[in-house]
Amino acid sequence: MSNLINVTVNVNGARYERAVEARMLLSDFLRHELGLTGTHVGCEQGVCGSCTVLFDGQSVRSCLVFAVQANGHEITTVEGLGSIDDLHPLQEAFRDAHGVQCGFCTPGFLMTLVPFLEENPNPTEEEIREAISGNLCRCTGYQHIVDAVKLAAEKGRAS
Ligand code: FES
Ligand code: FES
Repeated sequence: MSNLINVTVNVNGARYERAVEARMLLSDFLRHELGLTGTHVGCEQGVCGSCTVLFDGQSVRSCLVFAVQANGHEITTVEGLGSIDDLHPLQEAFRDAHGVQCGFCTPGFLMTLVPFLEENPNPTEEEIREAISGNLCRCTGYQHIVDAVKLAAEKGRAS
């Protein structure tokens, strides 16, 4: 008897159907079943935030969600945000404010910050630091990431 469960998920606007084990994490589903390796896996215990994706528009840690829980839901990964030729404004701001060094943490920061900026397009530095308090970065010291968020907010107001 098969232990596999059928899952249908909409990821970045495309519909995917797969049969998966009940224990498969959403992060592994995205990376290994769908090949969307932009979602990074660091701690696999909800601490580092590098696996953050949008689940029905809300930031979630995909290492804390089972793939079967995403059945019938909408997931957005960093691949759905922008492309190398057409960056999302927040990605442009990370580039321009030097908010990226090794880049391992970056997808998680972006997927945390997109809904944050939608809800709060004019954040204070304190609010930005609170918003990213669940995401770890070993490279930047965070200041350039905070600067990138401020830049994205400024550009959003100007546009
Ligand atoms: S890999 Fe999910 S929070 Fe670290
Ligand atoms: S840029 Fe390297 S961990 Fe954040």
